[in-house]
Amino acid sequence: MAGQPRGGEVACGFPTPLNGDAMTLQPLDDTAIYDIYISSRASACLAVGVRLGLFAGLEERPAHASEVAERFGVSARGADALLVSLHALRLLVRDERGYRPTPEAVEYLVPGRPKSLCGLIELEFDAFLSPERLLRSVQSGEGAVYDGDEVWGAHDADPERAARFTKAMHSISARPAAALAQSIDFSNSRCVLEVGGGSGVYLMELLRSHRHLRAVLMDLPEVCKQTGLRIEQVHAESPEVGFLDRLDLAPGDMFRDQLPGSPDVILFSQILHDWSLEQGRELLASAFDALPSGGRVLVHEKLLNDERSGPPANALVTLDMLFWTEGQQLTFGEVRTMMSDVGFREPRLQPTVGYWSVVEAWK
Ligand SMILES: C[S@@+](CC[C@H](N)C(=O)[O-])C[C@H]1O[C@@H](n2cnc3c(N)ncnc32)[C@H](O)[C@@H]1O
Repeated sequence: MAGQPRGGEVACGFPTPLNGDAMTLQPLDDTAIYDIYISSRASACLAVGVRLGLFAGLEERPAHASEVAERFGVSARGADALLVSLHALRLLVRDERGYRPTPEAVEYLVPGRPKSLCGLIELEFDAFLSPERLLRSVQSGEGAVYDGDEVWGAHDADPERAARFTKAMHSISARPAAALAQSIDFSNSRCVLEVGGGSGVYLMELLRSHRHLRAVLMDLPEVCKQTGLRIEQVHAESPEVGFLDRLDLAPGDMFRDQLPGSPDVILFSQILHDWSLEQGRELLASAFDALPSGGRVLVHEKLLNDERSGPPANALVTLDMLFWTEGQQLTFGEVRTMMSDVGFREPRLQPTVGYWSVVEAWK
């Protein structure tokens, strides 16, 4: 009608709805977008809390902000901002004695606890995925974590970097390692080779739970050296498991060297997501060649659903893969296709714990 605004034009200062539906006169809610925007602060204050040893300290003795400032050597304003935020994020509770960590914070944010995530969270100080760094990676399509240096070569050349990264992987893997050991039937298996086995967290858990198994861990030389020292420590704490007798280290390059030992199970945990699909297929083909008939391959990952629409926590890891590696988070369909392409049969998906799944297939 002449004189009436068309949909989308402004009348009396308000946009009229495009479809003329009275419901859409309500402004769209910005809360979800604001919450995404603000969530980087949550991640940063979590890392600061871990770095200060706040969760361990407050577990030992709860405290109010002024005492926290004194005990942890921070400013009064800083302590207050941190505590208010961590309390609102439900990592701390507060009563008349002051702030103390929730049971989840004690389990996962106190260093030295078996399933502590501190090593992973501490890595934020070295490799925080800031918008600036992410933009660089999105534009180039390449990793930018160590100013563009190739990650694995950088670890092999720099023991401290290797140690920080391996510690982070250990901490993210402690809980899924325990779950994996219980999710898969190893009763008829003899020897598990883990390719890119890092800290040995998976193999040590398997050996602890399945006393008839032997294991071989292949990784780059510097990582194997550090893992060897760690295995000696763990062995000293629980010699009855026999880690030193049952677990061999095989320093090497999984792309260049033949896969070691004579395994009847080969595990790739968080390996295929570091590489292109073609390189992943190459690794699976080496595993196929190294296994006897009836042998098994296990691919352990935080998978995307087949529509690649979530879960969000796993989709976001694709950004880490872009920033750190040549890879991407995978779907079960992609893993199944790669496995079938190189000859494995009956790929089967099994969720284990949290965001984790394992895909099992047979030669
Ligand atoms: C993402 S981490 C996974 C570690 C462990 N599997 C886990 O899930 O916690 C990747 C591992 O692959 C190892 N790696 C990278 N390139 C390798 C290569 N060419 N040969 C052997 N290992 C390699 C790294 O040193 C690192 O320990």
